[in-house]
Amino acid sequence: MLMLSMFLLAHGDDDFCYDEEHCDPYAWGDNYPSCHPLLDSHHSPINLDHQLMKNDSLDSLNLEGFNLTHKGQWGLTNQGHSVVLEVGNGMQVSGGGLPGTYRTIQLHFHWGSVSSNGSEHTLDHLRFPMEMHIVNIKSTHPNLTSALEDPTGIAVLGIFVDVTYLHNENFQSISSALPSVAYKGQTKSIRPFPLVNLLPQNNLTQYYRYHGSLTTPPCSQVVLWTVYEVPVYISWAQFEQFVSGIYSTEEEAANHVLLHDNYRHIHPTYGRSVYASKDAKLLTNGQNGSIKVLGLFMTLKILWEKQLGKPLSSKGLFTPRTMTKKNAR
Ligand SMILES: *[C@@H]1O[C@H](CO)[C@@H](O)[C@H](O)[C@H]1NC(C)=O
Ligand SMILES: *[C@@H]1O[C@H](CO)[C@@H](O)[C@H](O)[C@H]1NC(C)=O
Ligand SMILES: *[C@@H]1O[C@H](CO)[C@@H](O)[C@H](O)[C@H]1NC(C)=O
Ligand SMILES: *[C@@H]1O[C@H](CO)[C@@H](O)[C@H](O)[C@H]1NC(C)=O
Ligand SMILES: *[C@@H]1O[C@H](CO)[C@@H](O)[C@H](O)[C@H]1NC(C)=O
Ligand SMILES: [Zn+2]
Repeated sequence: MLMLSMFLLAHGDDDFCYDEEHCDPYAWGDNYPSCHPLLDSHHSPINLDHQLMKNDSLDSLNLEGFNLTHKGQWGLTNQGHSVVLEVGNGMQVSGGGLPGTYRTIQLHFHWGSVSSNGSEHTLDHLRFPMEMHIVNIKSTHPNLTSALEDPTGIAVLGIFVDVTYLHNENFQSISSALPSVAYKGQTKSIRPFPLVNLLPQNNLTQYYRYHGSLTTPPCSQVVLWTVYEVPVYISWAQFEQFVSGIYSTEEEAANHVLLHDNYRHIHPTYGRSVYASKDAKLLTNGQNGSIKVLGLFMTLKILWEKQLGKPLSSKGLFTPRTMTKKNAR
């Protein structure tokens, strides 16, 4: 989740990966003891299931500066494990049950491939095509090193990214810079834009909250997660720029290896509380919205068929929420 140059400098840049047995997420514990899932119970990502506890004190977060166009330049970099957008000063996150103010430092993405979904968290076992992480460190800490020593030193906003046929103009700044960072180590500066454009703007009060970890080494268990319930959508072409256009290798490498499926496996929640915000809809009260709708449909269908003796097709009446061009391929 945090792919900061700091770690690369401190640990050498090729000691973790996603695609080879000796360095994949199940082996991270060899080099980074704190990634060993047996040593602690606060790992991320998790599956967000329908047994979440509703917590009415969780209302919307204050996303200060997210609606402004800041001055200067931001840097988009291929760090070999993800594409990271380092944002300048001027944004901070608080409220929504967070114990303090957190300043925004960067965002990055996790994705699958042309044939697999790659979000890190799953929503009732549904894995979305991508997930974006906006990383914030508690403002009482001068640097990341000290934030990693604080059990609530980091707050990450997780946003599911789904794929549809519509082009998302709000992702254009990132989309147009991606070809310039195809290879590891490449950087492209981009003009700042209002970060709120990348969020599910109509549904910011609907989220899940739990205490977990970084999802990349050193897997520090210091993260307060806010995972938004409603995804944002990008087009198939925009999605393809990630899954078919970003390499984990340098331009000079003899073999170019596509970066894909850069997500960590799901971890158990053990005794952790996983909360749903006041306005979250899908997974609360043991009720899953789509299952409820499907149940109603099945009841109607049985009644209908009893009356008329002929089958009622479900086509067009019940379309799964996440039906996209991708399924249709
Ligand atoms: C940005 O949001 C703040 C509240 O967080 C609001 O006071 C301000 O008017 C907004 N600015 C713009 C340009 O929308
Ligand atoms: C609701 O969330 C707040 C903030 O995280 C927490 O302090 C509180 O204990 C939670 N309430 C319940 C009933 O668990
Ligand atoms: C992958 O994502 C698509 C689009 O959101 C969804 O319809 C599909 O169910 C997902 N597949 C899995 C295995 O979760
Ligand atoms: C980070 O901040 C801590 C606490 O103030 C300080 O002791 C340390 O030297 C700083 N580390 C770096 C790398 O700047
Ligand atoms: C998103 O928010 C809008 C407006 O509040 C609401 O009508 C809609 O149902 C929400 N979407 C989901 C999937 O909950
Ligand atoms: Zn991440």
